[in-house]
Amino acid sequence: MAKVRVAIVGSRFAADIHCDAYTRNSNVEIVAIAALDNLDAIAKKWGIRTTYEDYNQMFAVECPDLVSVCVPNFLHHEVVIAASNAGLNVVCEKPLATTVEDGREMLEVCERNRTRLFYAEDWCFSPTIMRMDALIKEGGIGKLFYAKAKETHNGSHSPFAKTLKMCGGGSFIHLAVHPIGYLLHLLGRGENPVVEVSGHMTGGLDRNFVHKDFEGEDFGIGMMRFGNGEVGFVEGNYITVGGMDDTVEIYGAEGVLKADLTFGSNIQCYSRKGISYSIEKTDHNLGWTRPAVDEFYGLGYVNEMSYFVDCVVRKEEPMYGVSGRAGLACVQLVDAFYESHKCGRRITGSWM
Ligand SMILES: NC(=O)c1ccc[n+]([C@@H]2O[C@H](COP(=O)([O-])OP(=O)(O)OC[C@H]3O[C@@H](n4cnc5c(N)ncnc54)[C@H](O)[C@@H]3O)[C@@H](O)[C@H]2O)c1
Repeated sequence: MAKVRVAIVGSRFAADIHCDAYTRNSNVEIVAIAALDNLDAIAKKWGIRTTYEDYNQMFAVECPDLVSVCVPNFLHHEVVIAASNAGLNVVCEKPLATTVEDGREMLEVCERNRTRLFYAEDWCFSPTIMRMDALIKEGGIGKLFYAKAKETHNGSHSPFAKTLKMCGGGSFIHLAVHPIGYLLHLLGRGENPVVEVSGHMTGGLDRNFVHKDFEGEDFGIGMMRFGNGEVGFVEGNYITVGGMDDTVEIYGAEGVLKADLTFGSNIQCYSRKGISYSIEKTDHNLGWTRPAVDEFYGLGYVNEMSYFVDCVVRKEEPMYGVSGRAGLACVQLVDAFYESHKCGRRITGSWM
């Protein structure tokens, strides 16, 4: 079988994760990478032969089977549309877009061009989450009532995350978009819409708890109620020190599931002099740590990229949780949460 030819746009944190995941798949060749900086370093690290500063030129010359979009949030719109107009299938990092209008247009263009749009919600492919999905499917915890999920850490490393225009908001759009996407996958499944949301945020800049230089909020929580009555509680904040903290709790009529996606390593390490790395976004790695065994695999990226590659090979649409439609629903929900915070009341609607 000919290898699936992948091209990457972006060269930093997310691009590195995508390269790692594709490189582990023997059916994939990363043929080229385009970005404004760091090209030599990332190309050398992953053995990518061709680099471009202009992604449009890369699309035209390389004609890849699949493009991974790993650029700042506000650029997802223009890069996805350019790839689709070049006839290419696209994986788009979270959040799908910074505005609902941009997200809608991205879906419309991809539909019109008949190119596939994969929304990169890696949580859907975390081995921990997939095992929990199976336990829920076999009825292990009965009918689901309530799910609570969060992603929190001490602040994005990316300068693009600091402005509302480039990020679309603060910690809520940047981090809570993971639990929101996961709850759509778990409880919404493309058939059970969210019908009510309420959100509470710090207000950005001086109103933030810690990050006074971030235009967007550094703390955001939200409640979402689904049409069938289930309730979700989601959180995304930048005030959590000590490492990235991603947790999930699911409550059903017959049981409970709890998972720790980031601190759940089987290794307990005590080091007086410190170790080089334990998990993402720790301040230091001295004393007791829980070093991740395989962080990118554990968070789902490896399975995720394999799934998208398989969809391309089989010419199949993705499941709901990682479809462009789910990505757009996440952006619409984030918008509704922000609106709820602004006007101080619950917002009703139908988001799916
Ligand atoms: N799924 C996840 O867990 C996860 C993790 C990290 C980041 N992300 C997402 O990935 C995206 C990128 O994040 P990051 O942390 O890698 O960002 P970053 O700020 O570290 O890097 C941005 C990259 O975009 C490139 N770029 C900027 N403008 C460009 C242009 N016009 N043409 C080509 N390249 C351009 C830069 O050269 C750089 O390589 C963001 O949308 C972020 O939300 C997702």
